[in-house]
Amino acid sequence: MLRSPALRVAVRPQGFLKPGRNTWLSVMTYATAAKINLKDAGLLKHQGFIGGKWIDAKDKATFSVLNPATKEEIGAVSDMGLEETKEAIVVAGEAFKSWSKTTGKHRHDILMKFFKLMMDNADDLAMIITAENGKPLAEAKGENAYSASFVEWFAEEAVRTYGEVIPSAMMNLRNVVVKQPVGVVSLLTPWNFPSAMIGRKLAPALAAGCTAVIKPPAETPYSTLALVELAQRAGIPDGVINVVPTHAHLKDVGREMCESKIVKKISFTGSTPIAKLLMSQAASTLKKVSFEAGGNAPFIVFDDADVEAAVEGAIASKFRGTGQTCVCANRIYVHSSVYADFASRLAQKVDAFKIGNGMDKETTHGPLIHERAIEKVQRHVDDAVSRGASILVGGKKAEGLPGFFYEPTVLCDVDPHAEVTDEETFGPVAALIKFETEEEVIRMANDTDVGLAGYFYSRDIGRVWRVAEALQVGMVGANTGLISQAVIPFGGIKESGLGREGGPHGIDEYMNTKFIAFGGL
Ligand code: SIN
Repeated sequence: MLRSPALRVAVRPQGFLKPGRNTWLSVMTYATAAKINLKDAGLLKHQGFIGGKWIDAKDKATFSVLNPATKEEIGAVSDMGLEETKEAIVVAGEAFKSWSKTTGKHRHDILMKFFKLMMDNADDLAMIITAENGKPLAEAKGENAYSASFVEWFAEEAVRTYGEVIPSAMMNLRNVVVKQPVGVVSLLTPWNFPSAMIGRKLAPALAAGCTAVIKPPAETPYSTLALVELAQRAGIPDGVINVVPTHAHLKDVGREMCESKIVKKISFTGSTPIAKLLMSQAASTLKKVSFEAGGNAPFIVFDDADVEAAVEGAIASKFRGTGQTCVCANRIYVHSSVYADFASRLAQKVDAFKIGNGMDKETTHGPLIHERAIEKVQRHVDDAVSRGASILVGGKKAEGLPGFFYEPTVLCDVDPHAEVTDEETFGPVAALIKFETEEEVIRMANDTDVGLAGYFYSRDIGRVWRVAEALQVGMVGANTGLISQAVIPFGGIKESGLGREGGPHGIDEYMNTKFIAFGGL
């Protein structure tokens, strides 16, 4: 346990953290969240979307969507239930009959129009993301571009769903393999990337020739609704995309999306416990599933690392989306010889963050999504401190701001068995743990049931190969803290999920492989 005064001096330069001084709280003016000033007001939709029509819930029920930076209501969205979900699935089943028969080129052309509309409307789409999720506008614009890049990538894949000819083992047979769209797909998306997770799932589904029923997150439905409006404008036919927003009927809607015989595939991004529930429901019809579930990413800084680059990488990985991404660094292991230096540099940079309303230009980091998220982060910090950790920066709920804000936090001397290392924090807490040997740190890094992403910094080429191979994760960042792109196979192993999204493999998740033997030659 490194609790020496020497480290504390090293990480707290004079005047760095005086009690009660909130250096990172910028004085900000808060835009009235209820009014999102869009150039195109037609992008702010409040209803569900079935068969090409914007419709209310049958019982006219709605749920409130709050801006997490202000706790003000952005608007009320139709709260749909089982009946609407069944209807959406039937409509998607009907639309599949014609959409699945279109050519890849036809789907490519429509998806490229959709991509262009997303880029043309980037300012409005980013405003919607910021209003409902809280991330700063610049980051929201980045998310829109990331989301659009999936649409562009899969537009290009729509024309490349190649089959195969396999040399026959029998004289009078010829073997051909073709790819066919699976059918109606259920897409269940999370609030941390209100747009990008739609791009990542909807674009390959459409490119493959599938039709979709989407359940957007109740916290951030507006981005999905805006994208669907743009998809319609791009020429996606009625019934091909359907959206069932829900809050009160989440369980019924989710179950129907998993159990309906018409639905042939489920794609879900969210927590591991919910992925397990959906998988058990999908088992009744043995559906194809892809799940991107929770992570608990290790981030390792070896003694031969470029420490400044590692600090930058840790900030990018840990604090993107205010720590609310599945691939966020969750456990930061630092070799004892560079520990004090790394901790000091990281703490200084984190101390300079400006948390606030994402609409404000000065804001570098936005709020958490809701109060429960703050409670979880506080529980992790309290547990770590009770086991001997020191707080270098932050460590509590931010005061003086109207939304769900938590101070960006750096903890050092964290016990390797603290809750913050066992569970995904999903918040702005960098937990630093000291290690001595490569073997020890690999053991600690892999000592978890999940395996989505892992990161490490080292300049030793042999170690780079060894560690990249040894980490039990689906994705590795070697000397980088940012790995996400549309062109890669994104996904995890162990309890982090099944299947891959994006990249050359992404469209396969939405296609069946069919073998045809030609006889009678
Ligand atoms: C996620 O948090 O689920 C996705 C993160 C990413 O695409 O980078």
